[in-house]
Amino acid sequence: MPVSPPPAPASIDEVAEGLRAVGYLPGESTALVAYLATRLGKPVLVEGPAGVGKTELAKALAGYLGRELVRLQCYEGLDEAKALYEWNYRKQLLRIQAEASGTGWDAVQDDIFGEEFLLARPLMTAIASEQPVVLLIDEIDKTDQEFEAMLLEVLSDFQISIPELGLVESRTHPIVLLTSNNSRELTEALKRRCLYLWLDYPSLEREIEIVRLHAPELDEKLARRLVEVVQMVRQLDLKKPPSIAESIDWARTLLLMGADDIDRETFERSISILVKHRTDIDLVSERVGVKLGATSEEVAR
Ligand SMILES: Nc1ncnc2c1ncn2[C@@H]1O[C@H](COP(=O)(O)OP(=O)(O)OP(=O)(O)O)[C@@H](O)[C@H]1O
Ligand SMILES: [Mg+2]
Repeated sequence: MPVSPPPAPASIDEVAEGLRAVGYLPGESTALVAYLATRLGKPVLVEGPAGVGKTELAKALAGYLGRELVRLQCYEGLDEAKALYEWNYRKQLLRIQAEASGTGWDAVQDDIFGEEFLLARPLMTAIASEQPVVLLIDEIDKTDQEFEAMLLEVLSDFQISIPELGLVESRTHPIVLLTSNNSRELTEALKRRCLYLWLDYPSLEREIEIVRLHAPELDEKLARRLVEVVQMVRQLDLKKPPSIAESIDWARTLLLMGADDIDRETFERSISILVKHRTDIDLVSERVGVKLGATSEEVAR
């Protein structure tokens, strides 16, 4: 539900409100960094565990600012051709074939290296866009350092040089969000150019609010109980602790199961929604399942 407020928000509260209006509940530092990103024009590097709302923040910012979201999903082996631009070889070939024989190579060459034969990839799209966009470079830690170096150049100059065509300069300044799961250490050079936001698991109250936003039919008391249990599970030494995404899934599952409390049996039956490794399931079931069998005062301790 994109709304169209003024392009540069006037305060941190305004950004927080705007994000809430599109269904994203920001913490204090999230609202601050998002505000700074809109005012300073610097890219934001968002790091944190899986499923804490890194990607969603970029979507929400785009929705709130009424901007298009251009997304570059990173993966191992991602190269410039897929991130910046590439020539549309097939179309170029067809163009050459269609040319009557006798036309000089120079004339054809001028033609096939024109904009019409260029395939713009996300970075190019964001830079060349006439309307300001939000550029999400998702999971930057999956790429290698060479790619990062290329990205640095783009992010510092906001321009791309194409040998055959010339310089493509940005007409509008995109808001850039990079996300990372920390699977490798990013270079200092990249960090230096970015504002930094560490997104962690939310506080109890905010997580309850997030869960209720995504599963509004869930009773408030049950939502609180659910988040308490999830946060308890997160304290254990797990391979993959449950994220906000799992809390939301669990809330929806409980609704479908028609559960009105989280007792030991309900918990055991739906545990695989929360944790997804065999060893984690065993550990959680042993530690938390047992507690749920106890009275709620005991659980609180
Ligand atoms: N602050 C928030 N307000 C509303 N919903 C949220 C918030 N944080 C997370 N969510 C919800 O949690 C889910 C997971 O978020 P998201 O996909 O952005 O996580 P992520 O940090 O990008 O994870 P990954 O590292 O696995 O990509 C989404 O469904 C999102 O809607
Ligand atoms: Mg993500």
